[in-house]
Amino acid sequence: MTHTTTTPHPLRARRAGALAGAARVPGDKSISHRALMMGALAVGRTTVEGLLEGEDVLRTAEAMRQMGATVTRGADGVWTIDGVGVGGLCEPAEVIDMGNAGTGARLVMGLVATHPITACFTGDASLRSRPMKRVIAPLSLFGAEFMAREGGRLPLAMRGNPSPAPVSYTVPVASAQVKSAVLLAGLNTPGVTTVIEPVATRDHTERMLKGFGAELDVRVAADGSRTITLVGQPRLSPCAIVVPADPSSAAFPAVAALIVPGSEIVLEAVGTNPLRFGLFETLLEMGADIALENPREVAGEPVADLRIKASALKGVAVPPARAPSMIDEYPILAVAAACATGETRMQGLAELRVKESNRFDAVVNGLAACGATVRAEGDDIVVTGAGEPPKGGATIAANLDHRIAMAFLVLGMASDEPVAIDDVRAVDTSFPGFAAMMTGFGADLA
Ligand code: S3P
Repeated sequence: MTHTTTTPHPLRARRAGALAGAARVPGDKSISHRALMMGALAVGRTTVEGLLEGEDVLRTAEAMRQMGATVTRGADGVWTIDGVGVGGLCEPAEVIDMGNAGTGARLVMGLVATHPITACFTGDASLRSRPMKRVIAPLSLFGAEFMAREGGRLPLAMRGNPSPAPVSYTVPVASAQVKSAVLLAGLNTPGVTTVIEPVATRDHTERMLKGFGAELDVRVAADGSRTITLVGQPRLSPCAIVVPADPSSAAFPAVAALIVPGSEIVLEAVGTNPLRFGLFETLLEMGADIALENPREVAGEPVADLRIKASALKGVAVPPARAPSMIDEYPILAVAAACATGETRMQGLAELRVKESNRFDAVVNGLAACGATVRAEGDDIVVTGAGEPPKGGATIAANLDHRIAMAFLVLGMASDEPVAIDDVRAVDTSFPGFAAMMTGFGADLA
């Protein structure tokens, strides 16, 4: 059930003692969505251990069921997906409601684009405000047809093309969702689909497609741009997937431990894919005491246990080229920057304006309300920290944005005065159990 049908749930964070303990944050959201979709397209039974059981991913599970896959959760928490094979998805009888999930919506649209399917998509108020033209444009090149609201927004109806020709597409914005939507459309297209990424983004789709047996090749040019080719209409073999803990979720307890004096925590089996690790790279540059212990590979993705100790952070410049590897982490980085000494300039953040909420404005206005020194300069956010947390004492509107809610709760764990969030229900989209985990580390949330 979507959280918009229940009543708002406010939460406030107050400074407590040092945080301590070890825990595993929930499974990676990006990988969980993809595991369900590729499992649905394989021939046979895929198993997924550590799937994120957050609302966004449960929407994708439901969408795959609506299109003919059998998706079940075992009593042991392992999910099984009996796939229908590439080309075997069937037409959903009902509107597909993707809730808050931008990734789910855009990637499932990629699948529909080259199946003989007419489907209608909707979502919550946040998702209905987000731009879909970025996928409508490339999927139209495969011959899919769309009827969307003004500005290319949901609800929309689309009709897939049952006899598509392959496409070569240069992704105009750095977006793993757009790249992945094109690759998933290419799966049921005869011939070779090519995606060119001027700037590399998370490569979970590529890694997983290879794991399922697709013929996919990635060429990295000297300038860092990537050319990905996929041979269409493969027979995908089912996989046993183990989902790493989500680095984008680990970011919140990690920064909490850094800014609450005396803290030391361990976050287990966190994904360390270099195309996702920009936040931790930046925190290390800021002087964070973070050790990567037991580095290993799980189901084609690198993971490590992160040991994090409270640290005196200093401001740094975060180059625009790093944005794709930490695009979801700027709100929590801005909180860390507000507690650091000196200026942190986060550059090239235009994409933050089209996330679950306008995160660019939410960060600037929220930090200012908490007494931090912060300014916007074009697409940059500049935070000047005084070497101690800002005073806090504000109530922040989450606007259906899980990461804004968690970022400001973390600030409240270190600031003099408590920080309140008007409604934290959106947190369940990516990090069910966030409040319980933080309380287990010793945080004061009520
Ligand atoms: C995601 C890609 C990113 C990210 C989102 C997850 C993905 O979005 O913000 O949370 O799983 O591919 P963009 O592709 O819009 O950058």
